[in-house]
Amino acid sequence: MRYDTPSLERWNSRAYDSSFGYVSTQGAPLVDLLDPRPGERVLDLGCGTGVLTAQIAFRGAEVLGIDGSSAMIEKALAQYPGINFIVGDGHDFSVVDPYDAVFSNAALHWMSRDPGTVIANVREALTPGGRFVAEMGGAGNCAELTAAMLTAWREYGLREPELPWYFPSPAEYARRLEKEGFVVRLLEYFDRPTPLDECPGGAADWVRMFASSVLEGLPPEIVEPLLHRVNELAAPALRRETGWMADYVRLRFAAVRR
Ligand SMILES: C[S@@+](CC[C@H](N)C(=O)[O-])C[C@H]1O[C@@H](n2cnc3c(N)ncnc32)[C@H](O)[C@@H]1O
Repeated sequence: MRYDTPSLERWNSRAYDSSFGYVSTQGAPLVDLLDPRPGERVLDLGCGTGVLTAQIAFRGAEVLGIDGSSAMIEKALAQYPGINFIVGDGHDFSVVDPYDAVFSNAALHWMSRDPGTVIANVREALTPGGRFVAEMGGAGNCAELTAAMLTAWREYGLREPELPWYFPSPAEYARRLEKEGFVVRLLEYFDRPTPLDECPGGAADWVRMFASSVLEGLPPEIVEPLLHRVNELAAPALRRETGWMADYVRLRFAAVRR
């Protein structure tokens, strides 16, 4: 199975690893929670450039990485030639042989069109008793960053930007998991202020990397002043002496297919 979904090309895969490698670095404890065993079959949904997929493979599991971005998958294949990666959308994928576990780091909140369908697809990809172990943005994630964006857009007389994410509360996501046939074994909801070490341009860089769709269609000449204003508005909450800090809130869970 290999199909391209260009609309999911939301960011640059080269910049992703060099500037935003913290996403995978911070996902390492999630691999511990997954606890992959030698010989197990694991699917990594929204695998990006494959850094965590490779960590799972390193522990002896047979792993498949799926991502909606062909650029991410190309880079993953180049970096880890011994691992299987394919382009696929979380809303629309199926597997021939079921997996022992589905893993996902920092990706489910991007699959915002229909989260229930994504969970149902994960269930269908698992054997009964199979694990779904994931971390995603939770309710309130990046609240200061998005408030600064919304205010800047309003000040510039622009229509409110359509934010591309789904940040559920723990109760809401647990309900969805149960409805789709999972038993929730662990659910954590926590603040994780994250230094944007690689973002000299602060909140503006973060918007360019993670919310670039909101810049599409804007008159080119206002993009820089608009992002400068986002920085001014976000700075009181997020700029420290040591640098910028993103106000991340995470939802981490382990669930089992009934
Ligand atoms: C922040 S990255 C995380 C990548 C990787 N899991 C990691 O920890 O480094 C989010 C990934 O989700 C992918 N993604 C977004 N929407 C998707 C969808 N509908 N189906 C599959 N992948 C998707 C993006 O292409 C991107 O690679």
